[in-house]
Amino acid sequence: MALSRLNTFTTKSSLFRQLPQNAKCLSNLILGEPSGPSVKTPIPGPKSKEMISELNTIQFANTVIYFTDYNKSIGNYIVDVDGNVLLDVYTQISSLPLGYNHPDLLKVLQDPDNQRTFINRPSLGLFPGQGWPQKLTSSLLSVAPKGHSQVTTMACGSCSNENAFKAAFMWYRNKQRGGAPITEEENTSCMMNVAPGSTPFTIMSFKGGFHGRTIGVLSTTHSKAIHKLDIPALDWPIASFPRYKYPLEEFAEENKAEDRKCLAEVEEEFERFNKSGRFVAGVVIEPVQAEGGDNHASPEFFQELQRITKKNGAALIIDEVQTGGGATGKYWCHEHFHLPEPADFVTFSKKMLTGGYYSLPEFRPQQGYRIFNTWMGEPSKVLLLDKVIEVIKRDNLLSIVQASGKKLMDGLMDMSKRYPQHVKNVRGIGTFCAFDSSSAEKRDEIVAKLKEKGIQSGGCGDLSLRIRPALVFQPYHADIFLEKFEKVLKKIKTF
Ligand SMILES: Cc1ncc(COP(=O)(O)O)c(C=O)c1O
Repeated sequence: MALSRLNTFTTKSSLFRQLPQNAKCLSNLILGEPSGPSVKTPIPGPKSKEMISELNTIQFANTVIYFTDYNKSIGNYIVDVDGNVLLDVYTQISSLPLGYNHPDLLKVLQDPDNQRTFINRPSLGLFPGQGWPQKLTSSLLSVAPKGHSQVTTMACGSCSNENAFKAAFMWYRNKQRGGAPITEEENTSCMMNVAPGSTPFTIMSFKGGFHGRTIGVLSTTHSKAIHKLDIPALDWPIASFPRYKYPLEEFAEENKAEDRKCLAEVEEEFERFNKSGRFVAGVVIEPVQAEGGDNHASPEFFQELQRITKKNGAALIIDEVQTGGGATGKYWCHEHFHLPEPADFVTFSKKMLTGGYYSLPEFRPQQGYRIFNTWMGEPSKVLLLDKVIEVIKRDNLLSIVQASGKKLMDGLMDMSKRYPQHVKNVRGIGTFCAFDSSSAEKRDEIVAKLKEKGIQSGGCGDLSLRIRPALVFQPYHADIFLEKFEKVLKKIKTF
């Protein structure tokens, strides 16, 4: 179906006019969005280079790709300070729900009541503003995973996971105490980091997983050595995450065997740690291992993992920091798995704008100040999220994600047939897509050449390129991506 590119300004607050229910026939109605990328200088360009040097005198700046002009960036396009316009399929490490400068979000700032929310940052555990429960209900709880009615806000992804781990440990110890009160010995011993106040409890994680970089969660992160090097680590159980062969239909039996092997490891680790008294209080897992290379696992794997975790009396912590917020075509990726019961914890951040976690009621702390910090999140982010959720619903963005995801996946599959040496193991849900290249060098070369053609993408894992557009990425944006991608593939040498 031909997709028109109107590139019009609309006077409506909506980015889209008359979105069809099935979202198959969309027009470009993003306010002022360019019709395509345009690259004028090498990237980083001269202005960016100068700013990078300047920043480097103040802090270590070698990860900076370029400086961005956030006044000019719009919709799916990021504009750098040298005037290069790139179609952004990386979106600030997958954290922009509605692209750049969405008019509905700009409007939130114009309301004087909202301005006061932006400048008076409360300590939410002590002095929440009036209307805060209603804000949480209309935003975070309106899209809560099925079965969840409790939400705790935090600042970032790492600290959301840290606090979910803490809540799991407290819950586990409380179960062990069987309702007995906390003893004086526990109180004094924990002050010296020893038993019985400090517990030997553990959290099980998976090879290739990523749950953040603060010291506790870092022990459950296993994606790249650079994240962990030189940092003390907790000796906690680590099981294998499935590594499937693609295409899935061809390797159904092998992949089922892979599931069984990994689940057997989970059972073994439970037994080993629980027997030695280093009880496994929780199992943390991403629905798709993102930083670790977009590794997918089957619904059956997750269903069985939930069963084993429950059988062993531990909490299942699903880390939706990267997968949550709509990119898979559902708010929460694990909803694709049809788990028999709600997960014990679902952690979030990135596209949800605020960090935090949903948890079942039994994980509420027994005393105050146990899950606590100064800010406990940020109400202005929840105000913006409230609008984001309204726009997602109003503009039917999850259907758009599904339509754009199909376009991307079909295109990538086609490329994998025509350029099998460079595009392997295509996988994805919604627009949360990836493929492997033949080596890390080739993957990096593809990312660099895509940038020259005006596409901002990103790598993950050892060999993978991940695609992480905003929820306003439409099928015709996928066409632009695929057209540029093919031009790049034609230029990549096989060896
Ligand atoms: C799955 C997952 N969990 C946790 C984190 C950590 O989030 P943050 O960088 O906000 O601390 C990330 C970040 O990329 C992530 O992808």
